[in-house]
Amino acid sequence: MAKNTPQPNQDAPAGTTVSRRDFLSLGAGALGLIGFLQTSSMALEFLAPRRVDGEFGGVVTVGSAESFPPGSVTEFPDGRFFLARASDGGFLAISRRCTHLGCAVSWHATPGQFACPCHGSHFDLRGNVENPPAPRALDTYPITVRDGVLLVDTAQARQRDSFAPEQLVYV
Ligand code: FES
Repeated sequence: MAKNTPQPNQDAPAGTTVSRRDFLSLGAGALGLIGFLQTSSMALEFLAPRRVDGEFGGVVTVGSAESFPPGSVTEFPDGRFFLARASDGGFLAISRRCTHLGCAVSWHATPGQFACPCHGSHFDLRGNVENPPAPRALDTYPITVRDGVLLVDTAQARQRDSFAPEQLVYV
């Protein structure tokens, strides 16, 4: 008989097509795959952004609309946004992240503007750029109203070039 000639599988029981060695090999591969998937899923869970309500990345309850007079700006540091109420009563949840390079802006009641400490950009009460280098208006977050209470979802910032009246939310 010539060398390297395939031999009938002596290990396989009659009537089967998979040898014991192949079966064990397949089992080890399956266990390895399960272990890999489990480790990957744990790693993805660890790396995924945390979404905790009441903090940045989650839904922040800001209170009832009457708590915020028209023309006011209130900072929510844990949510990293400002709640601005326009003179007509409409609300905007404005991100504190500068649209230039991401520094945190602060509100200055006088002269009534958001100012970035990094490169001098200024924004008005609606987040519009008053002084570059910021290339566009400050981002906003969606506001919903439940039983007269305002909720701000900080999971997804909305980019905008400039303010438009339809961005305001009314109670
Ligand atoms: S990061 Fe705000 S002006 Fe540059």
